[in-house]
Amino acid sequence: MDIGTPGSASSTKVMLLGSGELGKEVIIALQRLGVEVIAVDRYANAPGHQVAHSAHVINMADGGELRALIEKVRPHIVVPEIEAIATDALAEIEAQGAIEIIPTAKAAQLTMNREGIRRLAAESLELRTSRYAFAESLNQLSMVIDSVIGYPCIVKPVMSSSGKGQSLVETPGDVENAWNYAMSGGRVNRGKVIVEEKIEFDYEITLLTVRALNAQGEIETRFCEPIGHIQKQGDYVESWQPQPMSAAALKSSQNIAREVTAHLGGRGIFGVELFVKGDEVWFSEVSPRPHDTGMVTMISQHQSEFALHARAILGLPVDTRLRTPGASAVIYGGFDGAPITYEGVAEALRIPQTDLRLFGKPEAFVKRRMGVALAYGGNTDEARDRAKRAAACVKPVHT
Ligand SMILES: Nc1ncnc2c1ncn2[C@@H]1O[C@H](COP(=O)(O)OP(=O)(O)OP(=O)(O)O)[C@@H](O)[C@H]1O
Ligand SMILES: [Mg+2]
Repeated sequence: MDIGTPGSASSTKVMLLGSGELGKEVIIALQRLGVEVIAVDRYANAPGHQVAHSAHVINMADGGELRALIEKVRPHIVVPEIEAIATDALAEIEAQGAIEIIPTAKAAQLTMNREGIRRLAAESLELRTSRYAFAESLNQLSMVIDSVIGYPCIVKPVMSSSGKGQSLVETPGDVENAWNYAMSGGRVNRGKVIVEEKIEFDYEITLLTVRALNAQGEIETRFCEPIGHIQKQGDYVESWQPQPMSAAALKSSQNIAREVTAHLGGRGIFGVELFVKGDEVWFSEVSPRPHDTGMVTMISQHQSEFALHARAILGLPVDTRLRTPGASAVIYGGFDGAPITYEGVAEALRIPQTDLRLFGKPEAFVKRRMGVALAYGGNTDEARDRAKRAAACVKPVHT
């Protein structure tokens, strides 16, 4: 794709649907390549709005609103950055042929609902996953756990992210609370949950997988080094790269990632989430976009996951090589409110080999991710220690 000049007749326009911290970095990467970027989010002054050429506030789950904006702006490329989007509208736009959806409308459709991606992976592609079942009532949930899944297991709304509405069920006495919590935490209350056998993994990884054009103009799949991470209540708190793995586990991880992403199709980066125990690997889920645990690549790779996404989207060459072992640690709001001031930034950056991203979110919540500390080192233990110390220095406070 040729790149023109923003604001002129030759401009190459990319629209980001979702302009949070991940979208903001994709926008910056696109801006650096001279792309005109239109940032869309559900609220004003979202992180990505602050760095784009133009900003819009709409309800992206409303097909009519979404279609109207896309038809007005006429971007060349639309990049969904969140799951909660009217994906049917994206499919219609893609079918008209003039506007590209990244990676594909089908990928957005299949991954916005846990049922779509799980059935694709386990039933169509026959990849190894945890045992799972779906339930549409408390009764049905109890029944499938007792008859098929067993304890301990994990209950999740079919439509949710960042661990919202998700709980661990250890005994029959936990089932009712898990059902009620899932019903309150689902993004769109579909009245449906997935229940999964709990996998006792040694560690979990995100395998960033890029589908990009090679010199012959064909799509080729490349992998970043595996990213290890720690999740608390289904939300990531710390990640590092590279995660050491056995050769066999790495090979199966790459095979799984290649197969799933080939099926979703298109160009761009994918975050393939996998559980690993010894040489065994389970597919968990996949994001057809940059992954939150992949923020570590802003310090550990030559091209971050955002730069890789931007390049892949534009049909440009990519380089997935590691630069140095690195780590990231999340900075939470710690309180509910606005406006916010960040204390301790200088102290954090005084720790050698560290960096920070403060996302610029207009409002804090106790558990809202407001920033991330990054660090590198001779190994990931050193990098993790620095990242955690830097994150601990930064304190969002009510102004
Ligand atoms: N079947 C399982 N066995 C063991 N652990 C699990 C299982 N399912 C989920 N988890 C744990 O919970 C975390 C979050 O689960 P999952 O990725 O399905 O939720 P999510 O809401 O999509 O999270 P995110 O949006 O942050 O990726 C996983 O990274 C893993 O640590
Ligand atoms: Mg996940």
